[in-house]
Amino acid sequence: MNSTIQKTIDFVKEKLEGAEAGHDWFHVERVWKLSKKIAEAEECSTDVVELAALLHDIADPKFHNGDETIALTISRDFLVLQGIEELVIEQVLFIIQNISFKNRGEVPQDLPIELKIVQDADRIDAIGAIGVARTFNFGGFKNNLMYHPDIPPKLGMSKEEYKKSNGTTINHFYEKLLLLKDLMNTNEGKKIAEKRHVFMLNFLEQFLQEWNVD
Ligand code: ADP
Ligand code: NI
Repeated sequence: MNSTIQKTIDFVKEKLEGAEAGHDWFHVERVWKLSKKIAEAEECSTDVVELAALLHDIADPKFHNGDETIALTISRDFLVLQGIEELVIEQVLFIIQNISFKNRGEVPQDLPIELKIVQDADRIDAIGAIGVARTFNFGGFKNNLMYHPDIPPKLGMSKEEYKKSNGTTINHFYEKLLLLKDLMNTNEGKKIAEKRHVFMLNFLEQFLQEWNVD
């Protein structure tokens, strides 16, 4: 499996060349490493965890006109070519399809542990200092405002509203990032998320203090 993991790394690096800095190879590398760390304390298939972590952002629908099938096709073709068994492929594709925050309303309740692990890792990389940096980078990429005192956050948006939202970057913290710590699946994930959550609260407090010069 080690050589398959290395081939997957090379494949993902090549595919994500030039990607927005918050969804690039380095994001995937962090999620892969966090996934392995979280997996240490869980009974799971590490092959499935590693392959899913490496392939989870291979073709994010946000950057492909909303198409949610491209990532599955690319991943399946790649895994078949590597001679990976069908059962493992099915498990990996299920994770890629269901990992996303915006799909959380549609996901079946009884989730496989491998999905829970990679989802926690992906969510951890969305919070803390890295989370702040990624979020402002994405907001800049979209040319969104950093903050607007008269545009309040929209809580409880539907999947469609969330995808279309052109809100401010600061609002994204209230609409998603601050909710993540309570959505963690694993104990290790919860522990890491708790610390990063506190960092974001401090960041927001200081940001607003500095904004409101008086
Ligand atoms: P998911 O793939 O879990 O649905 P997203 O791709 O929407 O999550 O978000 C991944 C990261 O991209 C976020 O954690 C954030 O850093 C950035 N991001 C997504 N949407 C926005 C937004 N509207 N404003 C700022 N950053 C965003
Ligand atoms: Ni991701």
